[in-house]
Amino acid sequence: MKVLVIGSGGREHAITWKFAQSPKVTELIIAPGNAGTAELGENVGVKAEDIDGLLELALSRSVDLTFVGPEQPLIDGLADRFEAAGLKVFGPTAAAARLEGSKIWSHELMSKYDIPTAESKSFTSSAEAIKFGETKPEGFFVIKADGPAAGKGVILPQTYSDSNITIIDMLDHGAFGDSSSRILLAERMTGPEVSVFAFVQGEVVSAEVAACDYKRIGEGDTGPNTGGVGSYTPPEFWNEELAARVRGEILEPIAKALVAENSSYSGILYAGLMVTESGPRVIEFNCRFGDPETQILMPKLETDLFDICLAVAEGRLAGQEVKWSDSAHAFVVMVSDGYPGSYETGLPITGVKEAAEHGLVVHAGTARDESGSLVTSGGRVLGVAGSGGSVKDARDSAYAGIGLITFEGAQYRRDIAQRAIQART
Ligand code: AMP
Ligand code: GLY
Repeated sequence: MKVLVIGSGGREHAITWKFAQSPKVTELIIAPGNAGTAELGENVGVKAEDIDGLLELALSRSVDLTFVGPEQPLIDGLADRFEAAGLKVFGPTAAAARLEGSKIWSHELMSKYDIPTAESKSFTSSAEAIKFGETKPEGFFVIKADGPAAGKGVILPQTYSDSNITIIDMLDHGAFGDSSSRILLAERMTGPEVSVFAFVQGEVVSAEVAACDYKRIGEGDTGPNTGGVGSYTPPEFWNEELAARVRGEILEPIAKALVAENSSYSGILYAGLMVTESGPRVIEFNCRFGDPETQILMPKLETDLFDICLAVAEGRLAGQEVKWSDSAHAFVVMVSDGYPGSYETGLPITGVKEAAEHGLVVHAGTARDESGSLVTSGGRVLGVAGSGGSVKDARDSAYAGIGLITFEGAQYRRDIAQRAIQART
């Protein structure tokens, strides 16, 4: 079977690595891919946003299944276009991808179906938003742009003044273009955050899996937000009781709600949750796998990924096994000096082969130069995923691998998964 993977990050390298293990997958095409995916299949230079180009590629190469990594093509209707052309695709239609594409739509849906989340209200007028914001204490609300904003559309202001500036910036100055022409003021929740994933097709929800990610660049969760610089599983606070609540109060009800709203879901559902004093509540839904969680979820998945994705695409998830192993995993990302600000690229990378003895080396911002040597090409360059019987073993392996890789100015956090180990001692 021929599989097309869309995307170019660490998530897509991990997905491609997993597909490559399936005896049923005979050919892998990645658009556009990175230096890691090039070792597992054929990279084709069509970008993830170019839906026409991707459709042409899938048709001309008679692809059997297309896996969509990032959210934007799904929000833009890639799955609808592919299905209309008779192609099988893993990922939701544009209607279902509104779960991620419009935070207002998503919050209204949760509110209608009693799915626990932050209380919120939407606004198009800055004057009204400011007035409403000042009905509660300073720092009570978080402000969210309605549409996609490259992970930067959520602001957590501490004061009325910061809050008002953000509201005006988004609504009146188009800080995120169309995406911030409507905004949401949502109550700020507190508690540990967890990413929960399940394959969903219609009302069928597979076995779920939980992981934690690290978004801030600095140790101790300091400094600016990034695309994600580390992850681990299982979370120290995750247990059967919490898993049962997440399934019964969030995953199954949202799948049913989407069917009831004529927006039946098909793909992987990513619920970003906060475990509050009153139980798990939704921060946001995403319509794709998480990055950098996928880099640990693929090694944890025991079932053939191709079997699952084809079953979802063909509407047969109910009869398909999805098994996550009991193993622990940790993933540490090495980034370019300066990231998430500006940074240099084209720097030679060494030690990848040696690091692979300790864990799975997952590429993100890597490329080959004219002489075929591995060089940096992005902010998040690559990472090592360690596995083991405990989070400590997994973490030790990941850092043993990281310690062997070098490139000029390489940075990484030393505290990935540390809190999971501290909690157990
Ligand atoms: P999002 O882009 O919606 O995932 O939000 C980015 C980050 O902002 C989340 O990972 C949370 O840490 C934080 N956040 C978003 N919404 C809330 C909320 N209602 N209460 C507290 N923190 C939030
Ligand atoms: N783990 C963060 C994200 O994928 O959005």
